[in-house]
Amino acid sequence: MKIFSGIQPSGEFHLGNYLGAMKNWVKLQEEHDCIFCIVDLHAITVDYDPATYPQRIINATKDALAVGIDPKKSILFRQSDIKEHAELAWLLNTITTIGELNRMTQYKEKSEKHEQRVGLFDYPVLMAADILIYHAEGVPVGEDQTQHVELARDLAGRFNQKFGETFPIPKALLTETKRVMGLDGTGKMSKSNSPSTYIALSDTPEIIRKKISSATTDDGKATEISQATKNLIGLLEVFAGKDRADYYIKEREAGTIKYSEFKPELAEAIIKELEPIQKKRAEISDDDVKEILADGAIRLQGIAAKNMIDIKQKMGFVIE
Ligand code: AMP
Ligand code: TRP
Repeated sequence: MKIFSGIQPSGEFHLGNYLGAMKNWVKLQEEHDCIFCIVDLHAITVDYDPATYPQRIINATKDALAVGIDPKKSILFRQSDIKEHAELAWLLNTITTIGELNRMTQYKEKSEKHEQRVGLFDYPVLMAADILIYHAEGVPVGEDQTQHVELARDLAGRFNQKFGETFPIPKALLTETKRVMGLDGTGKMSKSNSPSTYIALSDTPEIIRKKISSATTDDGKATEISQATKNLIGLLEVFAGKDRADYYIKEREAGTIKYSEFKPELAEAIIKELEPIQKKRAEISDDDVKEILADGAIRLQGIAAKNMIDIKQKMGFVIE
């Protein structure tokens, strides 16, 4: 299967990004034809600092490499290096309705916090272009992106119908941890919330212990187990295995769970998983990253250009 996914170079990556998307990318690259993208054109749809942006792009690429994206197995590149993404977004704009974009819950959420800009509104169309320009079939993302992948499916189908068979219909590939909640138990883990509510991939062991020890739980006794507690036990399941999670679920059901025992165990399990990632990250230089991104762009340029010629041909741009 041809796989495409992207991540924004905005802020630090956290366990939600890791479990919802990036860990899956690492697995998929073993068997599929994968393209992973640092979506620098998406991350400018809200205010950002141009002075620090180049370093943020480099840091995001380092994170992707540190979690295990292997440039020998996958293609890793950045979006703005391939002009066809923006070009196809424009072409797709002409077959997208305002109504479709108005329904996007991420736009509704973001436009409450940020200025209501056209780029933010149009963000899902650029995402569809990212996917379709390479004829991708599988899109590994967290649950919050499934509505955007749906739009890409609709636009692919519509384009094919209007202009002739061109794009495969892509589908979202979700993990079992498709929606990791924040440590305060309210809403999804997100880098736009307070750092105390997420574990960043770069957090030190001390910070992880501190954040987990102040994570929200229920009182351990009420009949209904809280979402916050469920989320934490879910994290233990991923990092320490089902047996450990089952043990605490049973304890919780019996009303005998000791969070003073559970929390340190969870913290240590997270630390153990992140340690090799952090070590690897420290070994990657800025120059390594520049080389890898340049190589990714070279490998993709021909494919994007060729597919764009076909798209334009179908849309009636080519004068014989
Ligand atoms: P972003 O940081 O918005 O660029 O998201 C990058 C990827 O991480 C996307 O596939 C998101 O769906 C995924 N993701 C972000 N936050 C979470 C979360 N709390 N739980 C699961 N997946 C997430
Ligand atoms: N919008 C995605 C996010 O914020 C990132 C993204 C951009 C993406 N283009 C993509 C994900 C294409 C998958 C495929 O998480």
